[in-house]
Amino acid sequence: MDLKSLIREIQDFPKEGISFKDITTVLNNKDAFKYVIDQLSEQLKDLNVDVIVGPEARGFLMGAPVAYKLNKAFVPVRKPGKLPAETARYEYKLEYGTDALEIHKDAIKPGDRVAILDDLLATGGTVLAAAKLIEELGGQVISLNFLIELSFLKGRETLKDYHVETLVQYD
Ligand code: PRP
Repeated sequence: MDLKSLIREIQDFPKEGISFKDITTVLNNKDAFKYVIDQLSEQLKDLNVDVIVGPEARGFLMGAPVAYKLNKAFVPVRKPGKLPAETARYEYKLEYGTDALEIHKDAIKPGDRVAILDDLLATGGTVLAAAKLIEELGGQVISLNFLIELSFLKGRETLKDYHVETLVQYD
């Protein structure tokens, strides 16, 4: 399937100079959405993961359906102040600005094999933060899987210690 033709590109959003990759046009196509979830699931099916982690918000859209399909647990990583129980927190830089992410401390058990799913790999800061949180809790980060990779931002260098897979690349 030609996913690139289904990803809508919006110039100068949310800031001048950014070509935003809008995945709502993929989600809004039932065959394309199913294809993406099936492909991401296929990449993970033999890796014996226990838990799928998705960063807020678009990571939920990839991670939760894959967790359901593979019959695994799903754990959200969220922006600060959203998770109600005790959290671990990690500060990070993203493509446009800085932020922090949090995870429930009891969501990952020592030794858990974890895959992180997100819609987009840009600088890699978001998923690196999620990986650090998982490792702080004793989890092992087995795989990082994305729908889109903005190769020119060199997120793979930031994530060089990890196994990374992406479905669509922009050079
Ligand atoms: C976007 C995207 C990734 C991240 C990629 O999320 O969904 O999570 O940025 O950028 P990075 O590789 O440079 O970290 P955003 O923070 O815009 O949040 P949203 O999913 O809530 O829209």
